[in-house]
Amino acid sequence: MKGGSQESGVGISSPEFRFLSSGSHAVIMDYIDNLNPPQREAVLYGDGPLLILAGAGSGKTRVITCRIAHLIRERNVDPSNILAVTFTNKAASEMRERVERLIDVPLNRLWISTFHSACVRILRQHADRLGYKRTFVIYDETDRSSLIKACMSDLRIDGEQYQPRAISARISSLKNNLVDAAHYDKTSSHFGFEEAVSRTYSLYEEKLKESDGLDFDDLLMLTVKLFEQHQDVLGYYQGMFHHILIDEYQDTNHAQYRFVRLLTAKRANLCMVGDDDQRLPFPRRRYIEHSELRKGLSGRKGDQAGAELPFDPEHPRRRRSGGCPQSRQESQGALDAKTRR
Ligand SMILES: Nc1ncnc2c1ncn2[C@@H]1O[C@H](COP(=O)(O)OP(=O)(O)OP(=O)(O)O)[C@@H](O)[C@H]1O
Ligand SMILES: [Mg+2]
Repeated sequence: MKGGSQESGVGISSPEFRFLSSGSHAVIMDYIDNLNPPQREAVLYGDGPLLILAGAGSGKTRVITCRIAHLIRERNVDPSNILAVTFTNKAASEMRERVERLIDVPLNRLWISTFHSACVRILRQHADRLGYKRTFVIYDETDRSSLIKACMSDLRIDGEQYQPRAISARISSLKNNLVDAAHYDKTSSHFGFEEAVSRTYSLYEEKLKESDGLDFDDLLMLTVKLFEQHQDVLGYYQGMFHHILIDEYQDTNHAQYRFVRLLTAKRANLCMVGDDDQRLPFPRRRYIEHSELRKGLSGRKGDQAGAELPFDPEHPRRRRSGGCPQSRQESQGALDAKTRR
């Protein structure tokens, strides 16, 4: 960060006019003006955890992009001190383009990526600390599936009785819950499907290691392991990322939750934007996970309490219609009509 003095000045109740009177009025207006009041409140919110819940197309990503622009432009945060995460490469590059349209500063050191890409970047620097080559190969879904089948065949596990796809999905889910092969072997029952999973998982890990391979789930699991086992590495990234922003946070799994939790353990400058209605399958598990994130961040001793900013209560149509129930699509149409230019 270039100059931290402005970092803590603006809380949720502080009016944005504090910024507007700072002499850089013209600079701010270009993007602040294009926000509706709740969006603006979220963009101008100061330090500490911030959760924004809003419906589809209500401008959540706009909040993230404007907040990044605002952090850099008005709060003097260096781009390299910001990590913005989303779930697909396409969404990440769109997000970068949207920030580039808002501010005219070099953004090559700004981390905007998927969780997986961020982890690849970290592991390329430090995988040797976990006994892997930094030149590790990444196994895609096809590679993973072939290797699982090869392991099952070596172990003489009947592919008719236990579908390779089901075993693969179970291993993936274990990794997303940070359960490694040794731990699963110790804790699972040694019967039926669980036994087949356990044996396949152990051999699969051995074979991956032999070929310096990591599958997609390993990228997260090993980065969390790296952070948990190597405090110096964790400290380096905690010191680097002063602000973390997550789009579509409702889709975070447990490994992603741990990754964020570890990185924000010192500074809780985490802005999460999501829509519970857009949750992917496994709603219960995901609900528990993101509740954990919310509770964990807002409940820790010494932390600034987290703030939630749902957009909907501010909805212009809802106010005009006297609070009559209406579908979210209708509401959205009204919001769009009012806010888009
Ligand atoms: N206050 C606003 N004024 C004008 N246009 C807006 C405003 N807020 C959002 N938009 C526009 O509405 C569209 C949807 O915005 P955005 O992508 O930020 O929404 P979202 O909530 O992230 O959507 P999704 O649920 O699909 O992720 C975009 O074209 C955006 O530019
Ligand atoms: Mg979005």
